[in-house]
Amino acid sequence: MKITFCCTGTEPEPWLAGLRAALPQAEVELWQAGASPADYAVVWAPPQQFFDEQVQLKAVFAIGAGVDALLKLRLPAEVSFVRLDDAGMAVQMAEYVCHAVIRHFRELDLYAADTSQGRWTVHPSHQRADFPVGVMGLGVLGQRVAQALRHFEFPVNGWSRTAKELDGVHGFHGAEQFNAFLAASRILVNLLPLTAETVNILNRDTLSRLQPGGYVINVARGAHLVDDDLLVLLNRGQLAGATLDVFRTEPLPLAHPFWRHPRITITPHTSARTLRETSIAQIVGKMAALGRGEPVAGLVDVGRGY
Ligand code: NAP
Ligand code: GLV
Repeated sequence: MKITFCCTGTEPEPWLAGLRAALPQAEVELWQAGASPADYAVVWAPPQQFFDEQVQLKAVFAIGAGVDALLKLRLPAEVSFVRLDDAGMAVQMAEYVCHAVIRHFRELDLYAADTSQGRWTVHPSHQRADFPVGVMGLGVLGQRVAQALRHFEFPVNGWSRTAKELDGVHGFHGAEQFNAFLAASRILVNLLPLTAETVNILNRDTLSRLQPGGYVINVARGAHLVDDDLLVLLNRGQLAGATLDVFRTEPLPLAHPFWRHPRITITPHTSARTLRETSIAQIVGKMAALGRGEPVAGLVDVGRGY
């Protein structure tokens, strides 16, 4: 069995060593132009040339949850594309989103500003019931986030393409229930895949439908958000703030106004990192399952876009 590794922006050596240790019988090589055909590929944002040359692949494993960069390419038919299914990312995403929600709800930035000036001021507290959180995308990550928020007793709404029933979560689904979902939410968390249907979904119209004092947490992809629309709504006071982990251009260019906006918190695409060892174990397990003709979780539906 031959495995080729082609992951842009990833240091290859630890991955190659991990894959070789987990699959001692396999030939595992770093892809380079003109390399001989492999049976399996482990990829992240590969160039088009990779698929143009690798014409004998049986399955391709992405080392992330989102496959938008992969699905932009001209892909071979009859190849299985498999993404990471949690692999330690769901708990990280739950941590990150709960932290952002609680920081906003408990006004922890205000307290940090006060105490940095030596001010001992107790501000009026808020009612949790007035801060319903809407989670867009109830997949592997969105479900874990919704459950974690429920543990803190926030009212939680969820929106997905198909109907979902989750304990304690008010479910909405489909385009026809989107506006009702937005109107029922004050804090909005985006965990949708980036597809033709979801690009630019966080825009002036949709964000204006949130409850007064709306707050946006985007942890999915930068192209979900129309940057200028967010800035207009923040500057008008229609939105209270935003926490953004993902951007249209990454790294976020230094001239971008998000860097300096007082009500935007940014992090460098770090809310849920790929954990190498867990991911290798998952990928190796799925290679074996596919080899036995068994179904695997995280199989990408190329037509659907995620
Ligand atoms: P997933 O399991 O595929 O879940 C996707 C969810 O979105 C599903 O509930 C799906 O609905 C819903 N959805 C898709 N298209 C929709 C539409 N048009 N309208 C309404 N709902 C729609 O994906 P995941 O593993 O949770 O990951 C979600 C995304 O998080 C990834 O695609 C990636 O972009 C992002 N991500 C970011 C980071 C980071 O560090 N910032 C890390 C990992 C992942 P159904 O349930 O009905 O199919
Ligand atoms: C990271 O953004 C991922 O999709 O895994």
